[in-house]
Amino acid sequence: METNESVRKIAVFASGTGTNAENIIRYFQDVRCGIEVALVVCNKAGAGVIERATSLGVPVRVMAAAEIRNPEQMLAVLDEYEIELIVLAGFLLMVPDFILGRYAGRIINIHPSLLPKFGGKGMYGRHVHEAVVASGETETGITVHHVTDKCDEGGVIFQASVAVDPSDDAETVEAKVHGLERKHFARVIREFMEGI
Ligand code: GRF
Repeated sequence: METNESVRKIAVFASGTGTNAENIIRYFQDVRCGIEVALVVCNKAGAGVIERATSLGVPVRVMAAAEIRNPEQMLAVLDEYEIELIVLAGFLLMVPDFILGRYAGRIINIHPSLLPKFGGKGMYGRHVHEAVVASGETETGITVHHVTDKCDEGGVIFQASVAVDPSDDAETVEAKVHGLERKHFARVIREFMEGI
């Protein structure tokens, strides 16, 4: 039996619906590999992720952008939950420099395209999939990457792709990409954390 101290702890940062956060929480609750999601940080009151995480027994801190950007306040929260790795899953704020410094090499994000394509400012959620369809791409996918102070530019950890068919629209592309996220993201997080 693991003692609680030996469990390595992840914080998931999310702003929206939280399907990825939920999948990640469930994965680590099921596989019992000595890693757990110990905290969800959300910057949007009322976001779906709050209820999803709460119902799975994971503490949620809803924090305004100003609180997240306050080093004393934010680092105290991360320390309180002994967070070792930060995973962004649909988190729409830039990560402040003091967190990048403290968690160098230990902050990862998932982006719903094959970066460097369709990344950068304004490229989030449905906008990404609309741009993919509008530009006639024949494939898209997911990218798990390191987080830096440049939006969507950190080193790639993992990519997976899926075909975009002529009959696809943004909605069907989004569903395909969510399928890839469900299939891969939690396992990639586990493998990454086991390697650091
Ligand atoms: C996902 O498509 C993820 O790749 C992107 O934002 C979306 C979040 O969806 N970064 P959800 O809130 O996890 O449902």
